Amino acid sequence: MLKTYEEKTSTSKRLYARAGKVLPAGVSYGIRDITPHPYYVKSAKGVKLTDVDGNIYTDYWVGHGALILGHSPDAVVEAVGEQLGRGTHYGFSHELEVKLAERLVEMVPSAEMLRYTSSGTEANMYASRLARAYTGRMGMVKIEGGWHGGYDSLHKAVHAPFDASASAGLNPKTTEDTAVIPFNDLDAANEALKGEGQACLIVEPIMGAAGLLAPDPGYLEGLREICDETGTLLIFDEVITGFRLGPSCAQGYYGVNPDITILGKVMGGGFPIGAFCGSEEVFERLDHRKYPDDSERSFHGGTFTGNPISMIAGITTLDILRNGEVYEKIDALGSRMREGLEDIISGSNVDAVITGVGSGFAIHFQKERPRNARDVLKNDKRPALALYEHMIPRGFAYVTPGLPHSFLAEPHTEEDVDEYLTASEEFFSNYKG
Ligand SMILES: Cc1ncc(COP(=O)(O)O)c(C=O)c1O
Repeated sequence: MLKTYEEKTSTSKRLYARAGKVLPAGVSYGIRDITPHPYYVKSAKGVKLTDVDGNIYTDYWVGHGALILGHSPDAVVEAVGEQLGRGTHYGFSHELEVKLAERLVEMVPSAEMLRYTSSGTEANMYASRLARAYTGRMGMVKIEGGWHGGYDSLHKAVHAPFDASASAGLNPKTTEDTAVIPFNDLDAANEALKGEGQACLIVEPIMGAAGLLAPDPGYLEGLREICDETGTLLIFDEVITGFRLGPSCAQGYYGVNPDITILGKVMGGGFPIGAFCGSEEVFERLDHRKYPDDSERSFHGGTFTGNPISMIAGITTLDILRNGEVYEKIDALGSRMREGLEDIISGSNVDAVITGVGSGFAIHFQKERPRNARDVLKNDKRPALALYEHMIPRGFAYVTPGLPHSFLAEPHTEEDVDEYLTASEEFFSNYKG
């Protein structure tokens, strides 16, 4: 890391020393770690982060992609402020959970019913269980490099080596019924679903943590067909793409409806949330009045499900997003960023390609555009890390230094993008390898 970073972040350095004594690795989530120490954010507004040393960064991580309206948008702050005085957590039914559900059913093409969770991980967990309950099958198929949160049965083949255990402490029995196939490979999907023993196939319509990889034309349609032929539920994990790719999510964008959709991030308006939604026929399996027998019903619940603060923040956010104007702006910024980076790369001696759709962009340091997580392994990490060391002291905030993948939000401007491009150009024209 550049010396200037250490010089600029001395208060963060001291905080990190304290953090290391009480938080493993000094952080709340490993991917937020920065070498030699993270900068500690003191406040955030729009797309500007201010750290405890007074440094200002333009944020391209925007809360793990959740903050499509940026940090603390006025409308959400106001609505949440009013709600705080009326109750932070009821633990009983209330109107806001109905209102948000009505909006979700209206906006998400395949949704007729839904249940909330407090995170995307939990939504994946409950959706997997629901798929098993509905189909009476125990097998699941996921994509190599797919990230669905830390739920045991899907915590498999996340990073290379894909055939090794993805975490210590995982009971191999919890992952043995999970089959893994590569992204963008319909033959592999056909093969995996052939025996008709799989409850569901779960896929991110655009692979997120693997580096914003888009589906080949016809891939999602092909998965839909194979699932229909074999009675397998198709699950789209739209925790990233949900309300980022447009008001009707990736399923509206690509015109392919899954049986179950997993949501999180953007729909919470900056507060913890998750949800899973789908057809009434599948979701009635969660209904204890229709299925009073525990062994026939798929259990779902949780202390903070339907939390009124998350609900009001989600409602306010979706009401801003539903007419599509925000997407016109951020998608145009996304194109400006991707095209700008491509121009810079083509004028340089560095092998790199850009992926991403809409308001997302990722930089892969290799010659070919990756189509799946195995292709991403060919990325050269050295220029990626060098780019990170170049960008952070210049005030550009993003995570996963080895695999830069970033998001734009409504408060970003063309000037922000151009500043990012200027700093990138400096890097690409000087990098010697
Ligand atoms: C596609 C996808 N699914 C699930 C999750 C897990 O969501 P959470 O971190 O809210 O548990 C993530 C988080 O980044 C994600 O990107």
